[in-house]
Amino acid sequence: MKQEGFYKLSIKDRQKLLTDEFKLTKEEIQTLTNSLPIETADKMAENVVGTFALPFGLAMNFVVNGQEKIIPMATEEPSVIAAASNAAKLCLPEGFKASASLPIMIGQIQVIKLDDAFAALKSLLKEKKRLLEIANSRDSTLVKLGGGAKDLQGKILETKRGKMLSLQVLVDCRDAMGANAVNTICELLLPEIEKITGGKVRLRIISNLAIHRTVKVSVVWKKELLGESIIEAILDSHEFAMNDVFRATTNNKGIMNGISAVCLATGNDTRAVEAGAHSYASFKNNGKYLPLANYSKTKSGDLVGELELPIAVGIIGGATKTHPLAKLSLKILQVKSAVELAQIIACVGLANNFAALRALSTEGIQRGHMELHARNIAISAGAKGKQIDEIANKMIAEKNIRLERAKELVNKK
Ligand code: MEV
Repeated sequence: MKQEGFYKLSIKDRQKLLTDEFKLTKEEIQTLTNSLPIETADKMAENVVGTFALPFGLAMNFVVNGQEKIIPMATEEPSVIAAASNAAKLCLPEGFKASASLPIMIGQIQVIKLDDAFAALKSLLKEKKRLLEIANSRDSTLVKLGGGAKDLQGKILETKRGKMLSLQVLVDCRDAMGANAVNTICELLLPEIEKITGGKVRLRIISNLAIHRTVKVSVVWKKELLGESIIEAILDSHEFAMNDVFRATTNNKGIMNGISAVCLATGNDTRAVEAGAHSYASFKNNGKYLPLANYSKTKSGDLVGELELPIAVGIIGGATKTHPLAKLSLKILQVKSAVELAQIIACVGLANNFAALRALSTEGIQRGHMELHARNIAISAGAKGKQIDEIANKMIAEKNIRLERAKELVNKK
């Protein structure tokens, strides 16, 4: 698909390119503008009275492990898709390298009211094999695919309400995000755990701190393309985040701008991924919250960006299958596994982080933002078609981006 200048095309022409490239059906084309039938929405959540639409765009120029990828993103924030596309363009032709662990999630089981927590844990671990068999007795499909419960671990928590056990069932979720599979497994184990320990099982729920389901991506931005001063500026801004938690938080928010937008476009649970990412930012560093990405310089002066974080996403189940636009996103992404999707998502996160640091450490982000803001104001004032850019440009030139001014300009035309 022709990616160069995609942003300059009309919406119709962009849709045509997409349709031709991915052989979209009539229904899929309709999905682009009417993404969620109210009847489907009514089955997804409660008390439904409507649906809520967001801009759905394509990030361009991504090459991940040697493969070109067009990446759907859903976001309300201007600049995010453009920033990801620009950052990806700057590391061509090599693009991003990505690897990932197995899709293993943690299910937690809390056991209380124990006479002897140490003995209870010992007995449970002795029965590990049998407990894992019970855990895998319900979902034969997951097990046949090579997934299912793989391990049982536990620790004793000394709390102000007495000693309790925190058990962890490690579950390979294959292509599912896994919340349902994991929660079912935890529930399934309840009677046996109570029998073995003589205690009471309270919570049984997935943990979003998915430390066993991580993705690593790296990329090199060449000195010749970026320029030495920009590389130094990015390294300065990274160092700021390394040493100030207030900056690190915003830095990581910039990473999540890209990550959440792809998660949302593919019908994945953005909150689960957000929770896991931010928690990992401190878990990985012995409790100190740090930037999720790292930047360094090669001997020859190129900039290396690296990002490692948990990304628990699926390509089967939940909204990935019920939301028509999420299904279409997965078709556009052409991913064969949840692990592959997670790798692509992490690349977008790194691209957005790089783009934010580059803009912030040089001209600042306000100019780019103001351009998009001016377009939004022009649209709010009633500008249509070509008028939108004309009015936006005029307001930028006048340094007067206000709704009243936009209305005056619309009425003048
Ligand atoms: C805005 O959505 C994201 C940024 O604040 C990220 C950052 O500061 O690195 C620009």
